[in-house]
Amino acid sequence: MKVLVTGGLGFIGSHTVVELQNKGFDVVIIDDCSNSDENVLEGIQAITGKKPLYEKLDLKEKHKVEDFFQRHQDVAGVIHFAASKAVGESVEKPLLYYENNIGTLVYILKELCRKTKASFIFSSSCTVYGQADKMPITEDAPIKVAESPYGNTKQMGEEIISDTCKVTPSLNAIALRYFNPMGAHPSGEIGELPKGVPQNLVPFITQTGIGLRKELSVFGDDYPTPDGTCIRDYIYVVDLAKAHVVALERLLNGKNESNYEVFNVGTGTGSSVLEAIQSFEKVSGRKLNYKIVDRRPGDITSAYADTTKANKVLGWKAEYTLEEAMNYAWIWEQKIRD
Ligand code: WQD
Repeated sequence: MKVLVTGGLGFIGSHTVVELQNKGFDVVIIDDCSNSDENVLEGIQAITGKKPLYEKLDLKEKHKVEDFFQRHQDVAGVIHFAASKAVGESVEKPLLYYENNIGTLVYILKELCRKTKASFIFSSSCTVYGQADKMPITEDAPIKVAESPYGNTKQMGEEIISDTCKVTPSLNAIALRYFNPMGAHPSGEIGELPKGVPQNLVPFITQTGIGLRKELSVFGDDYPTPDGTCIRDYIYVVDLAKAHVVALERLLNGKNESNYEVFNVGTGTGSSVLEAIQSFEKVSGRKLNYKIVDRRPGDITSAYADTTKANKVLGWKAEYTLEEAMNYAWIWEQKIRD
């Protein structure tokens, strides 16, 4: 069974390709390498022994997307990761985000609608909830007005897919709302490769731990939380990757209850920034150099998943803890800095 993974050279995409290959799927990757490197293919092959098919292609070029699907008519499913994902950058460059995240989604969906049957997994985000009123967050929590164009593209993406599925019975889709992905593959062959100064907490922690960054700035400790720092649901990237395979198989095997479903993908456990720092210090045996600074605009206080639907309906559950994931993040950081 052939599966297209767009953005398959990226952080979550590459880990998902590994899990797809482990389950016997033939994978073809489309990636424009705007935020990834082709040598990730070697890392994937080192783990699974199979090098996925790969085409460097800009999904914003409609005719190139059409041509791809003409040449790969045996694609049974698509897992769509390809998108721009930096919250801050999206505020500065909204049109880049709407063109890249929405335009490409529309082109892919149009191709899938031509098929007699198609399965589609969409990379969504807990960002769609904004600051939810109740913790843990369930899938029927209200969608709040997006705080950034990036978050808006995830909300719009879900609506576009839902509207399309309503009039296209042959299209079956699942949106996975990720919480905070982190870590790296146990093999040390693939992991997070942020370009430039990391925006996300965990790569900044490990880069500070290895001495690449002088110190971590903790964005505020005056939030209404036990230790004053923000709470997030940090999910190990391999757990997250496996959720994509379970979701795809659900659709391919016709187990879905409707042709558009949504699942939160998190551990169900909230951890503060200081707890994340403590987990790093424990696994590395190093003291982390950090200082408390002002809050970062747009940050929400707390977000962690209610995993009941993912566990009971999707049949998936995260297996790794924050500490285990942080250990793999640290091993990876040391490896790429060797
Ligand atoms: C986590 C916590 C920061 C960096 C974002 C996107 C989300 C998803 C994941 C793409 C917050 C604090 C961070 C630092 C810090 N991205 N922090 N110092 O903002 O929860 O989610 O990334 O899908 O859509 O919104 O993740 O890792 O940036 O921040 O104190 O140098 O760490 O304030 O509380 P976030 P993050």
